[in-house]
This record gives sequence, C-alpha cells and structure tokens, in this order.
Amino acid sequence: MPRGVFITFEGGEGAGKSTQIRLLADHLRDRGHEVVVTREPGGSPGAEAIRHVLLSGAAQPFGTNMEALLFAAARSDHVEQLIRPAIERGAVVLCDRFVDSSRVYQGVTGELDPEFMATLERVTVNSMMPDLTVLLDVDPQEGLRRASERRGAGDIDRFEREALQNHRRRRRAFLDIAGNEPQRFVVIDGSPASEEVADAIRLKVEKILPERRNAESEGSEQNV
Ligand code: TYD
Repeated sequence: MPRGVFITFEGGEGAGKSTQIRLLADHLRDRGHEVVVTREPGGSPGAEAIRHVLLSGAAQPFGTNMEALLFAAARSDHVEQLIRPAIERGAVVLCDRFVDSSRVYQGVTGELDPEFMATLERVTVNSMMPDLTVLLDVDPQEGLRRASERRGAGDIDRFEREALQNHRRRRRAFLDIAGNEPQRFVVIDGSPASEEVADAIRLKVEKILPERRNAESEGSEQNV
C-alpha cells in the first residue's frame, strides 16, 4: 500500500487557507485521490473539545505555556487518531494549520522557551512531519479585513483580537521558517483572486504527487 501525502496550509488570519484547501480537495478528488480535509486545533473528537477551550479564550488566564500544552495535546490526538491512519492507507491529507502555527503563535509571539517548544513538537508530531507546507502570505491588515468580513456578526477569536504588531511579527516568523526549510515549504502570494492562487498551489502539489508515485514504483520494482 503506497504511503499517502501530508500537506499543511499555514498563514495569518484571513490568508485564504480554507478556500484554497476546498479548491485543492475538489481538484484532487476529481483526479481520483482519496482526500482527507482537516484542521487544527481540532480534527478529531478529543482535539475538537480542546479547540473550544483554546479559541474561546478560556485557557488564556492560565498563561501561554498552558495554551501551548493544550495545542500540543490536541495535535497529538489528531495525529494518532486521524492523520497517521489516513496517510498509512494512502490518502492525501490537507490540514488547515499544523506545527508551524505553534512555532509562530506560541513560540514567537508567545515568546515561549525554544527548548520547551522543540520538546513539545517532537512528542506531538511523532515523526509525522508534512511532506509539503503551503504558506499563504498576505499583508496582515488585508488578512484581518478578510477575516472580519467572513465572520460578519460572529465573535472575534482570542488570537484575531491581538494587536496588528503581533500579526506582523507572525508574518515575518512564518517567512523565516519557510526560508529555513525550503524543501518542505512553498510560499504563495495569497492576495490575488482565489482561482489564481489555486493554480499556483496545484502546480506545486502536482509536482510532488507523481514524484512520490515514481519513487514508490521504482522501490517496488527493486523488491521484485
Ligand atoms: P481558526 O478559527 O481555525 O482560524 P484560522 O482561519 O485563522 O486558521 O483559529 C485557529 C487559531 O488558533 C488561529 O488564530 C491560530 C491559532 N493557533 C495557535 O495559536 N497555535 C496552533 O498551534 C494552532 C494550530 C492554531
């Protein structure tokens, strides 16, 4: 059974991740792939329960360390209950936010100890690093405008509420991580019309899908 492909989407608020995940999922399903769409925090029943605690701000009074632990607990459940089984049966998993969001929101703007963050990451990801991470890059002011338009009369979440300055630091931090791991990341300008952004993402994803298949068929030929 071929191993699947794990693709994560990262970026600030209102970068267009959910629209792009939907468009890519439709495209890949049309091409016959099993596609699993999921998100963080959440994606499994245990993690969805934790999501509510985090995004309502109920955990905020306990401090940033506690929030990081809760994100980590949610991620661990999500990886073991949903992501790993899907990858093992050969599916393409598209995940809205993953470990890079913790690195940026808790590690950089939360200013948590890098060693603590690295330990949490190792334990929660448990070798399930993404094959590809799509960073949708938009100006934070534009992103927050889009996020508030999408929300309408709904409640602003605990992280959107923060100052523009923090959103700018996060944009910089995502770009720095992408610069340090160019094999895993593709940085895509999220400001053009969504169809244009979707085309750029498809081009990149199509490059890794056949490559993996070729590598697998070569591998199986050698085993015969
Ligand atoms: P969500 O409603 O999913 O928003 P978005 O559309 O921006 O993805 O909210 C998730 C929020 O949680 C978002 O503000 C980023 C934050 N977050 C972290 O702080 N750390 C994490 O590890 C993850 C996965 C998310």
